[in-house]
Amino acid sequence: MSRIAYVNGRYLPFRDAKVHVEDRGYQFSDAVYEVCEVRDGRLIEERRHLERLKRSLGELRISMPMSPAALGVVLREVVARNRIGYGMVYLQISRGVARRDHAFPSPPVAPSLVVTARPLNMARNAALAAAGIAVVSMPDDRWGRVDIKSVGLLTNVLARQAAIEQGARDAWFVDRDGMVTEAASANAWIVTREGALVTRRADRAILRGITRTVVLDVVGAQGLTVEERAFTLQEALAAREAFITSATQIVLPVVRIDGNAIGDGTPGPVATALRREFHRHAERN
Ligand code: PDD
Repeated sequence: MSRIAYVNGRYLPFRDAKVHVEDRGYQFSDAVYEVCEVRDGRLIEERRHLERLKRSLGELRISMPMSPAALGVVLREVVARNRIGYGMVYLQISRGVARRDHAFPSPPVAPSLVVTARPLNMARNAALAAAGIAVVSMPDDRWGRVDIKSVGLLTNVLARQAAIEQGARDAWFVDRDGMVTEAASANAWIVTREGALVTRRADRAILRGITRTVVLDVVGAQGLTVEERAFTLQEALAAREAFITSATQIVLPVVRIDGNAIGDGTPGPVATALRREFHRHAERN
């Protein structure tokens, strides 16, 4: 079956799914994106993802190309046309196509909208979670507004590649004060020796992950102690458990950081339970 993408109003076979060379997303990373998990053909946490999209667009003063409801229709149509049961849907909105000039086009041009979807391998993801992953720490050299879900991901790309070249699966960024910010495409968490869940406060130094928000709701409802605060790499190394959260990996245990085993070096009970219970709490549409 051929893959179908939505590009500026049309559903196209992948080979025809193209954007203009002067699209500002291509030229300047002047674009934002969202990634939503798909389960049983349904979107997980669509409302929150579209709310975050609206916020990212607002911060960059890019207009919403259509209403959230209409966007939801397009997302579902792309999922259906690609027959995604379990997978992800990706959407990207750029400021549009204009002659290359750093300043915003004046008068404004229509934003570009692209939506794609692809299946994920549930068995492979489950096996990854059962084994847990290794991460390596790296300096967080990203720009100061990573709370905006922009497609400017070069530092994230380089970090993920460096991690893989070092035999790990992901990177954990560490800021100038020695505090962990987040992973290359996920939020970072630890469970302290005292049993408290710790994840960084959602300031401008991390993306406010939707998975993170749902997990915070879950642990709050279960009466677990949660601390939204920065933690050091040393604290993570001494933690009972570590894990990351994202729309595509949900809760993924981290069992090694910079070659050091976390806890007993296997996925811990808190991360394992959160992964198991996540979809009982997440909204699906
Ligand atoms: N990444 N932090 C960063 C830097 C991310 O790129 C992501 C998501 C997250 C987690 O956010 P959420 O829980 O809303 O997925 C945190 C997506 C999955 C990606 O780039 O593919």
